[in-house]
Amino acid sequence: MGEVAAGGAKNAALPIMAASILAREPVCLDGVPELVDVDTLALVLGHLGVETKRQPNGRLALRTVDARPTRADYELVRRMRASFCVLGPLVARRGRAAVALPGGCDIGDRPVDLHLRGLAALGADVRIEHGYVIAEARRMVGATISMSGPRGPTVTGTANVLCAATLARGRTIIMGAALEPEVVDLGRFLIALGARIEGLGTSTLEIEGVEALGGASYRIIPDRIETATLLLATAITQGRASVTGAAPEHLQAVLSKIDEAGAEIDVELDRITLACRRRPRPTDVTATAYPGVPTDLQSQWMAWMTLAPGRSVIRDQVFGDRFRHVAELNRLAARIERRGETAVVTGVDRLTAAEVTASDLRASAALVLAAMAAEGRSVVRRIHHLDRGYHRLDFKLAQLGAAIERLPGDAARPDKIVANERTTRMEKAS
Ligand code: EPU
Repeated sequence: MGEVAAGGAKNAALPIMAASILAREPVCLDGVPELVDVDTLALVLGHLGVETKRQPNGRLALRTVDARPTRADYELVRRMRASFCVLGPLVARRGRAAVALPGGCDIGDRPVDLHLRGLAALGADVRIEHGYVIAEARRMVGATISMSGPRGPTVTGTANVLCAATLARGRTIIMGAALEPEVVDLGRFLIALGARIEGLGTSTLEIEGVEALGGASYRIIPDRIETATLLLATAITQGRASVTGAAPEHLQAVLSKIDEAGAEIDVELDRITLACRRRPRPTDVTATAYPGVPTDLQSQWMAWMTLAPGRSVIRDQVFGDRFRHVAELNRLAARIERRGETAVVTGVDRLTAAEVTASDLRASAALVLAAMAAEGRSVVRRIHHLDRGYHRLDFKLAQLGAAIERLPGDAARPDKIVANERTTRMEKAS
C-alpha cells in the first residue's frame, strides 16, 4: 500500500513567518513547506529587513537585521495576497506600514475591510493612498473588535489583528475570530514569543498586550488541505493509500463526508488511510468556515463527485465565485452546472482525457485529480499554480502509484505541464 507524508501547512507557515517581524530575537521554524508562496513571502520579508535562511529538513531561520523598512511593494503583494499578513506585525512593531492592496484574485473579490477596521479600532491611523494601505500608530491600544463579516470570520484578518494586539497597550478582545487550526497555530507561535493570548480555537480571543516579544523555535502544523487532497486523489482512482504525519483532528468534517460518500477511512494517530473500491455516492457539500468543510477542498471534492452515480450539490459559502474549475472539469467530460454559489454535478460513468488549464491553486489540484481518473492521457496546463501551495504534488501522487509526469516548459509555454494517463492507478484497493 502506498504511503506519503503530509507537509507543513502553507496557511499556517505564511502568517507565522510574517509574525516573525514582531520578534526581537531570532525565530526558528520547523515544518515550513518548500513552496513558491513561502519563497515569495521570504522575498517580501527580505525587503522588510527580515533575513530568512532555509536549512535542511524544512527548517527556516528568520532574523530581523534592519527594523526600519515598512513598505511591501505592489509587485510582490500582487503575486501573493498572503503578503498582506505583514500589515499588522509591521504597524505594531515598527509604528508604520505601507502595504500594497492586493487587488482582485482568481477566486473572486477578496476585500480587506475587516483587516483595516480592526487595526483602526486598535487606534492605528489607517488610510489608502495610491493603492497602498498606510497604517500608523505610535502604540496601539486594546479594544473590542469583531473579525466576522457577511461571509463569516476572516482568517488572515484575524491573524493581522491578533498580531497587532500582542504589542498593544492593554486588553484586546477579538469577537467572531476565525477558528481555523492555522489561526490557532499562529496564536501558539505568538505565545511562544511571549504574547499573552487566551481563547485560541474559540470565536473570542483575549489578548493582553506586552511590551516586547522575544524569539522562539516552533513547529508548524501539518497541512490539512494537502492531506485531504492526497486522500481524495486516492478515492477518485479507487485506490488505497495512507498519509502519515497528518493531523486528523483538523479534518473531522472532511473525513466524515468522505465516509458518507462511501470510501473507508481508518485513522491511527497521525496516519490516515483511505480505501475506496467503488465510485462515490453522490454527496452534497457546503464549504464553510472551520470546523466545516473548507473552501480550499471544494474543487477537489467536486472532481470526485463527477463520477458519482447521481446528483451532488456543491456550495461555497466562503468564496461564492470560486468555480473556475467547473468549465475545465467539463472539458474532461464531467457534467457540472454552475448556479450562483452552487454547482450541480450530475455524475458520469467515466471522464475522458483532455487538455485543461488551471486557473488557481486548488482548481489545479482538482484538475490533476480528475485527469488521474480520466481515460487516456490528459494534460494540465499552467501548473505553476499548483507549485504555489503543494510541495511536489505530482511526485507524491507518483509515489502512491499514479502515472503522472511533469513536462518541462519552454520559452513559448513557460508553465510546467503535468500529463497523466490511467494506465496505472494508485495501488488498487483489494
Ligand atoms: N472577507 C471580507 N472582508 C475582509 C476579509 C474577508 O468580507 O476584510 C470575506 C472574504 O471575501 C470571504 C470571507 O470573508 O468571503 C473569508 O475570507 P478570509 O479573509 O477568511 O480569507 P483569507 O484570509 O484571505 C485564507 C486562506 C485561503 C482560504 C481562506 C478561507 C491564507 C493565506 N489564505 O484566505 O487559502 O481559502 O482563508 O479559508 O490563509 C488557499 O490556500 O488556496 C487559499 C485561498
